[in-house]
Amino acid sequence: MKNLGFVLSIAVFALALFPASAYDPDPLQDFCVAINEPKDAVFVNGRFCKSPKLANPNDFFFSGLNIPGNTSNQVGSAVTAVTVDQLPGLNTMGISLARIDFAINGLNPPHTHPRASEILVVLEGTLYVGFVNSNPENSLFAKVLNPGDVYVFPKGMIHFQLNVGKTKAVAVAGLSSQNPGVITIANALFNTNPPINPEVLAIAFQLDEHLVQVLQKKFWYYNSKNAA
Ligand SMILES: *[C@@H]1O[C@H](CO)[C@@H](O)[C@H](O)[C@H]1NC(C)=O
Repeated sequence: MKNLGFVLSIAVFALALFPASAYDPDPLQDFCVAINEPKDAVFVNGRFCKSPKLANPNDFFFSGLNIPGNTSNQVGSAVTAVTVDQLPGLNTMGISLARIDFAINGLNPPHTHPRASEILVVLEGTLYVGFVNSNPENSLFAKVLNPGDVYVFPKGMIHFQLNVGKTKAVAVAGLSSQNPGVITIANALFNTNPPINPEVLAIAFQLDEHLVQVLQKKFWYYNSKNAA
C-alpha cells in the first residue's frame, strides 16, 4: 500500500510536469534580454541573455503596432508580428503578439503555429475564423467574429481568418511562445525548395500530377512580416 502511494505520487508528479514541458520553458531569472548569439555559437532553446545590469527600458519596448500592415497582396492580409526578434525582452517569457490587417475579402490563409496557442481579438470589421482538430475527427470549429469578440486557436491546429465584412478588418493576437513559428499550409506544400515530387502531392490531394506542377509554379505569397 505504501509503495502504491509512492508510485501514484510519482505518476501525479509526472503528469503535472510533462504537460508544462510542452511549452516555452519558464524563466529561471527576472528577465533574459536577448542578444545576438556570439559568432559560431550553437542556437539552442531561446537566445543568449544580455547582462541584467545592461538592460534598459527599450529592451522591453516595441513601437509601431498602430501602423496598418500593407494588405495589397494576393491574399489581402498582412501579419505584423512582435516576437523575440523585434522585442528582445520577450526572450524566455513564453509570449508574443501580432497585429493582423485584412482588406475586404482578405484572408489569413490556413496555417499553424508549431509552438503556440493563439488568442485573437477583433478590433474592427467582421471575420470568419476557424480551426480544425486532429485526425480522424478533423472537426471544423468556426465562427463569425465582430469587434470585441475573442477566439482561441489551440496550439498546432490549422486555422484561418477571412474578412467577410464590408470594411477592412483588424485583429490582434497573443501567442504562447516568444517564437511561435508559422507554417502556411499551401506554401509549405506547393512552394518548397526543392519542389516535392509531384507524385506525392497528386496522391495526397487526389489531383492530376500536371495540376500539381501548375500549382508548384505559382507565386505563393507569405503574408507575415517579421515572421518568426
Ligand atoms: C503596398 O504594397 C504594394 C505591393 O507591393 C506596393 O505597390 C505599395 O506601394 C505598398 N503600399 C505602401 C503604402 O507601402
